[in-house]
Amino acid sequence: MKLFGILGFGGIVLALATPQSKQTTVIFSGDASGKLAPCGCTSPMIGGIKRKATVLNQLDKQTVWLENTALVANNSPQSALKAHAIAETMRDWPNAVAYLGDNEQQLGIGEIFALNDLSRGKFVRLSAPPNTVPDFREAGPFLVTGAHGGDRNLASFIDQALEKGLAPVVMLDGDEEAAISMARAFPALAAVEYRSQDAPPTTAKFEGTTLIATAGNQTRWLVQANWIDGKWSGYQVIALGPELADDPAAGRIYARYLAAVDKGGFLAQLPRSPTAPYGGAKACLPCHQKAVAVWNGSKHALSYTTISHEGHAHDPDCVSCHVTGLASTKGFRSPTATPQLAAVSCEQCHGPSLNHARNPLKFKARRSSKEACLKCHNPENSPRFDFSYYWHKIAH
Ligand code: HEC
Ligand code: HEC
Ligand code: HEC
Ligand code: HEC
Repeated sequence: MKLFGILGFGGIVLALATPQSKQTTVIFSGDASGKLAPCGCTSPMIGGIKRKATVLNQLDKQTVWLENTALVANNSPQSALKAHAIAETMRDWPNAVAYLGDNEQQLGIGEIFALNDLSRGKFVRLSAPPNTVPDFREAGPFLVTGAHGGDRNLASFIDQALEKGLAPVVMLDGDEEAAISMARAFPALAAVEYRSQDAPPTTAKFEGTTLIATAGNQTRWLVQANWIDGKWSGYQVIALGPELADDPAAGRIYARYLAAVDKGGFLAQLPRSPTAPYGGAKACLPCHQKAVAVWNGSKHALSYTTISHEGHAHDPDCVSCHVTGLASTKGFRSPTATPQLAAVSCEQCHGPSLNHARNPLKFKARRSSKEACLKCHNPENSPRFDFSYYWHKIAH
């Protein structure tokens, strides 16, 4: 944490030593894909807007913050709330700029205006015309625009930047290859920020003098670099790890987001298909005592309590894997309407079995398998999953 303080101080000393040199800190961020918080399913998980705000708040308020496209992963009403939260975190940063991609654009024009207001006017360009937000914005020593794919003709944008004495920077909705060819076509660009699902490279990459940078995706990393007298230095990747404290102001924005998710009633609006009825673990007790005892002692029995404690009791992003039968008309509705299904219960793995519990000779319950585990124990939410080890813990 001290590091940022020292860097900032160093900048001042430098400015005094050579009056004409001016250091600007630049933060590359982007492709948040609606990830406001680390998944929470395994620790330590990296990421989230609360830790990101902690890093930013160590920096000078004139820091240029580039937020490249794909704030959200889709155009659902819940994504709109996520975009609101990200926009709100940008409001107190005069040199923040966000490039709006396809997903934001599909939220609709009303949302674009709302986001621009929430961020106090930090948006530049939409991925597709007609543009209702400016084509470019000044941010510190830069003129910043966005480009969808690598083929935008930037000649007039670059001319305008150079006329203003500003360094042109592009946030690109495209991959590293597209960023490199853009830098080759327009060598005057100071930086091209691209999209990537991988961790950012640990050392700075250049094409000519153009910095080719990414911050990865899902709000897991930031990349910091310093712009001094028309040159880049001090490139570093900042992983948003658990050692970073949560920023209280961003915490309040996140809490408001969760409250809006509760209020939005999104869980009740999920599509459901009819199935046979569910009974809950208690309905199995008379004939499968051992299985019920094992299950009662397992974490599956507490899975809904876990997310409730974290404030995600009504969050469709979490509930599907932490309850039973969310996709069924007979499945989990709420802890009061369907208390017996507020957990990863027997029937999440064996299928709805109330008929079987009532008449086991007529109705057979389904057997389960390793494949049933992988729907929830996927690489993102259960990176250490190993069937034999995990099964051993719940064998019944
Ligand atoms: C794709 C399914 C899936 C989704 C979606 C999901 N979880 Fe989980 N969650 C799991 C699994 C599987 C585990 C158990 C991981 C393990 O122990 O390997 C888990 C465990 C947890 C734990 C317990 C961590 C611990 O160390 O005891 C918490 C807390 C949690 N999830 C919170 C959340 C929250 C909050 C969300 C939504 C933002 C969420 N989960 C969404 C599948 C999911
Ligand atoms: C009234 C007693 C009774 C109740 C209650 C009951 N079962 Fe069963 N269950 C049986 C019997 C008997 C068998 C063995 C049937 C067979 O092998 O055909 C069985 C077998 C099973 C099997 C193995 C199926 C197979 O093909 O080997 C599963 C899984 C199962 N039950 C799940 C459940 C679940 C889940 C519940 C609660 C919702 C439940 N049972 C409630 C009596 C019951
Ligand atoms: C519907 C989603 C879902 C399915 C399917 C599922 N799990 Fe889980 N599992 C979870 C969640 C959620 C947790 C975390 C619960 C908590 O900590 O609150 C978990 C936790 C566990 C744990 C505890 C891990 C620990 O840290 O101690 C084990 C073991 C486990 N699961 C094994 C399995 C196995 C084996 C299968 C397949 C036969 C399976 N699970 C299928 C959602 C699921
Ligand atoms: C996380 C998934 C999961 C949960 C939860 C779960 N089971 Fe199972 N169960 C399995 C798997 C996997 C098997 C082994 C494959 C099989 O026989 O279906 C199994 C096996 C069984 C069997 C057959 C055992 C045998 O003799 O072959 C019964 C009966 C059964 N489970 C009942 C239950 C009951 C009752 C509950 C709830 C109290 C429960 N299960 C909860 C996944 C699960």
